[in-house]
Amino acid sequence: MDIDDILLTEEAIQSRISQLGRLISADYRGRSPLLVGVLRGAVFFVSDLMRRLDVPCELDFAALASYHGETESRRVRWRMKVEAEIAGRDVLVVEDIVDTGKTLFKLLRELRKHQPSSLRACTLLDKPSRRQVVLDIDYVGFTIPDRFVVGYGLDHAGRFRQLPYVATLKKQVTCRKDADHATNSIFDRS
Ligand code: IMP
Repeated sequence: MDIDDILLTEEAIQSRISQLGRLISADYRGRSPLLVGVLRGAVFFVSDLMRRLDVPCELDFAALASYHGETESRRVRWRMKVEAEIAGRDVLVVEDIVDTGKTLFKLLRELRKHQPSSLRACTLLDKPSRRQVVLDIDYVGFTIPDRFVVGYGLDHAGRFRQLPYVATLKKQVTCRKDADHATNSIFDRS
């Protein structure tokens, strides 16, 4: 009942991740990249993507927060920094979505200080119409319009992450203040 439209089906997402996996594997042939997943939204994407890579690679995470349970972006704050050694590594940041771009910008700026031998970014979803900073994104799964989306790791007030597809929410849901009450209606799109 809370879901409006399915923007990207599970099949479309998985097939695009396979393509990205082939592309990234070819680009990193002979190297061993460190994937840095951005918590929490990119958990599903980075684990599916990593399993499609046929080059040796490692995984670490960073956590930044900008939404605090609402749909408008605020200041980006660190919650957890990358623990792995960055210097001299081929680092690939894996994001769920790039919206204003502030989160990815801050993460790339921080990682760059630690002198990786290369630094690239991959996002499943890109909302370029909302960009507030200049960013080069090396791998983009899908470019989407300016809509608030949930599913496949993306949440609204902590909910909807486990949906296998990416969908828009009904307007009344994104406006609702106490959106943290649990219901089963997310699985019922009627
Ligand atoms: P940015 O800093 O504005 O680019 O925002 C990046 C972060 O905001 C993402 O990692 C998401 O956590 C969150 N975000 C941006 N747009 C959406 C959306 O449509 N749905 C859910 N989360 C979003």
